[in-house]
Amino acid sequence: MKKHQFRQETEAVRAGTDLHKKSGPLATPIYQTSTFEVTDNQEQLRVTPTDHFYTRYGNPTHTVVENAIAELEGTDAALVFSSGMAAITSTVLALVKAGDHIVAQRDIYGGVTKFLSQWLPKMGVETTFVDTNDIEQHERAIRPNTRILHVESPTNPMVRVVDLEKIAALARTHKLTSTIDSTFSTPINCRPAEWGIDLVLHSGTKYFGGHADLICGIVAGSRELIEEIHAVRTTLGCCMDPHAAFLLLRGVKTLAVRVERQNQSALRIAEYLSKHPKVARVHYPMLLGHPQYELAKKQMAGAGGVLSFEVAGSGADGCRVAEALTLFTLAPSLGGVESLVSIPVLTSHAMIAPELRQKMGVTEQMIRLSVGIENVEDLIADLDKGLAVLGGREQAHAAD
Ligand SMILES: Cc1ncc(COP(=O)(O)O)c(C=O)c1O
Repeated sequence: MKKHQFRQETEAVRAGTDLHKKSGPLATPIYQTSTFEVTDNQEQLRVTPTDHFYTRYGNPTHTVVENAIAELEGTDAALVFSSGMAAITSTVLALVKAGDHIVAQRDIYGGVTKFLSQWLPKMGVETTFVDTNDIEQHERAIRPNTRILHVESPTNPMVRVVDLEKIAALARTHKLTSTIDSTFSTPINCRPAEWGIDLVLHSGTKYFGGHADLICGIVAGSRELIEEIHAVRTTLGCCMDPHAAFLLLRGVKTLAVRVERQNQSALRIAEYLSKHPKVARVHYPMLLGHPQYELAKKQMAGAGGVLSFEVAGSGADGCRVAEALTLFTLAPSLGGVESLVSIPVLTSHAMIAPELRQKMGVTEQMIRLSVGIENVEDLIADLDKGLAVLGGREQAHAAD
């Protein structure tokens, strides 16, 4: 873990840039080029391992945003990718070989579950999936050939928080590389490297980009591990377009103010929903009385803009509420400036067997909200209007 020179709001705006530079453009230029020219072959050899060789290997616009993200996460280095899935698959491929084994939490992003359970076995790598909240199950699943302990926190759509200190300690004891998908946290709310996690992954498509206008992925960690992952990125060719890197950097500059607003608004909305007679259950760990409230407070500055709730009614009732909203747009994805709504059993969890979904707590009547940066009173008024389609049924509610 690296020491922070500035507080996170300052890092978000200033990190990755040379603060002593006194001339030139303030905004980072987009190096929209596939290749870089050199004066002679000596120079060609010199630039080959740098970001001035060929954009599949690296690009100066990538470098600025990578350095900014590494500073925010408190790691030596970071890499950007063409998507969150590219970041995760490249990282896993850098760490395993045929005959190896992975222990992964069960309720991780579905695309990652598919990669681990359907693609990696073709290469001779097995994964055991374990219950998110049962650390002993994680330990029992570890074998002599286990290489990675993979978690996601908070989870989708239950917003469950994983105890990172315990996960990091377990990985250290068994000499595993700990990896976390920290998409739902962002470094504004939690810096997993501070808790001892080795590699921090993001779908930068979400909060980092922040404007629902780019697809990208991120991994941050030690220089040594990042170099190994860089070799995979170069071989697979899942690098980011320089223009997308520029958009990502622009997103990073406002990450702190956006996420702080999203934390506040999501908590207000969770509190409002938890008192609503047509809401049976609200899932948001910063809600007073939530079973993970203490853990969330310990390791997070806020719980982010995503929360889920279950209507007092059927799956069809949940759909009617979601469709009655106007300020929450019916769309997958999360973390951007616009508020979104989705039905997990029809989107992120559609491919998961109903029994397993039930086990995870993902019900038919669950609605997931991604709270944007609109005025929270307007958002609550929209939810009030949407929930009114359910009529006057009453139901006891709980925070979980
Ligand atoms: C938690 C999480 N991780 C990874 C991904 C994959 O990211 P991308 O869509 O940028 O490939 C997603 C996408 O929704 C996600 O929600």
